[in-house]
Amino acid sequence: MAKHADGKDKDKVPGKEVDEQYREARRNFLKQSSLITALALAPAGVLKAGELDEQLAAKFEKVSVKLTINGELKTLNIEPRITLLDLLREHLDLTGTKKGCDYGQCGACTVHVDGQRINSCLALAVMQEGKTITTIEGISPEGALHPMQAAFIQHDGFQCGYCTPGQIMSGIACIREGHANTDAQIREYMSGNICRCGAYPNIVKAIQEVKAGGQDL
Ligand code: FES
Ligand code: FES
Repeated sequence: MAKHADGKDKDKVPGKEVDEQYREARRNFLKQSSLITALALAPAGVLKAGELDEQLAAKFEKVSVKLTINGELKTLNIEPRITLLDLLREHLDLTGTKKGCDYGQCGACTVHVDGQRINSCLALAVMQEGKTITTIEGISPEGALHPMQAAFIQHDGFQCGYCTPGQIMSGIACIREGHANTDAQIREYMSGNICRCGAYPNIVKAIQEVKAGGQDL
């Protein structure tokens, strides 16, 4: 390639090098996007569900996140796309928190983040950096029942029990928020927690009893 007297390539035009770098980055991005799309659209017969998940997962970079979960500080390397619910259930074996709808409709996945109740299926785990998470496993010392758990047992606040961890986490929050003063108020502020067994009257009784007990929750 011809050079100028100053040693620079004669053919290099100012800005052209930057243009080329931009095109290269764009080409790489498109290649990676196409690969991810192709994997996602691959027919079930071509890739088994597990393989597909693994191949997609490999395309995402992991990030480090620090969370305090049930009193224990954890540093975790996770994919940015993972929800708090999946992190708890699939990576930390905290399966007390349930997956019902996975769309923020049923409340089965309710946990406390910095003391506030949230639907963990709607929260990305990486967004919880530095926060304190409490799940149903962490509301009382091992071997002891939290007053809300005891009240649910006493008042038969469940049948199949699938919604119960979420109901209990919401019930505790409902009292802390000052939203458990009447049956109607409890029903309104517990309305995000669905019970397909219809244990609602007994759930309200359990929450009323804990509220009347005046314990520090
Ligand atoms: S699983 Fe989260 S609201 Fe239903
Ligand atoms: S106890 Fe069965 S869904 Fe609530």
